[in-house]
Amino acid sequence: MAFTGKTAISTGAASGMGLLFAQNFANLGGNVVLCDVNKEVLNKCVGEINAKGKGKAIGVICDVRDYQQVCRARDEAVETFGSIDFMCNFAGGTAVRMQNVEREKYPEFPDVPIDVFDWGIDVNLKGPFYFAHAVMKQMREQKSGLIINIGSITGQEGDGYGMDYPTSKAGLMFGLTKSIAQYGAQYGIRCVCVSPGPVLTRAAMANMKTLLGRAAEPQEIIDLILFIASDKGQFINGENIMIDGGRNAAGRRC
Ligand SMILES: NC(=O)c1ccc[n+]([C@@H]2O[C@H](COP(=O)([O-])OP(=O)(O)OC[C@H]3O[C@@H](n4cnc5c(N)ncnc54)[C@H](O)[C@@H]3O)[C@@H](O)[C@H]2O)c1
Repeated sequence: MAFTGKTAISTGAASGMGLLFAQNFANLGGNVVLCDVNKEVLNKCVGEINAKGKGKAIGVICDVRDYQQVCRARDEAVETFGSIDFMCNFAGGTAVRMQNVEREKYPEFPDVPIDVFDWGIDVNLKGPFYFAHAVMKQMREQKSGLIINIGSITGQEGDGYGMDYPTSKAGLMFGLTKSIAQYGAQYGIRCVCVSPGPVLTRAAMANMKTLLGRAAEPQEIIDLILFIASDKGQFINGENIMIDGGRNAAGRRC
């Protein structure tokens, strides 16, 4: 598998799977644009990728909730590397965790301040929507491209407390991905959603049950994405792919 001469944008790239994807993609010869709000960590990650001397990396400070910043990331990608072949929307997470909401102080869904949920819906759903709108102009011109959305088992299961997260992820898994695929096909653009169960970007995810009795290694998720992006994955389109150790199939057995 090689991505020499190809360019990917990865959001949420200062941490977890967004970073791991960027590292993998550059190791396989591709150029990568790392987008995140965490400036210090982002610059360090970009430096480390470039020091390896394989694919090239640039960092763009980009809050995915801000359409102007999203367009700037797209423009910097095109100005630096000439194309956008892969757009990978990793930035996300459940707002009550990412915003450090204290459960004791805000015990139930209606008690949580609405701006916490605004943040969650904006990062998890609007961010990928904004990026789809922005990069589609470039991909349409190229007549090629792949957009990868990252869903979640929680988009399938729901969550009676952190409701922004399943609401947004289900939007990616069942609405946005199919819609992009419908529009994009005439221009050779594909869109696929990859929806993990628990992934060990955080140790606590080991507590979430699966039929296989373990959480995923982050690399297992990235390997699937790389396959979809590779020559071997070209017929995969408009679909949500669960990669969850069988949790979705488990019903009451988990
Ligand atoms: N870890 C899991 O178990 C799991 C399971 C299913 C789905 N997912 C999804 O996979 C994706 C990556 O998860 P992870 O655990 O690797 O993430 P992570 O928490 O390690 O990293 C998230 C990154 O997003 C960045 N970010 C936050 N707000 C942003 C914004 N407004 N604009 C740009 N960047 C922003 C953060 O700075 C951070 O670097 C997320 O969308 C998550 O919902 C994760």
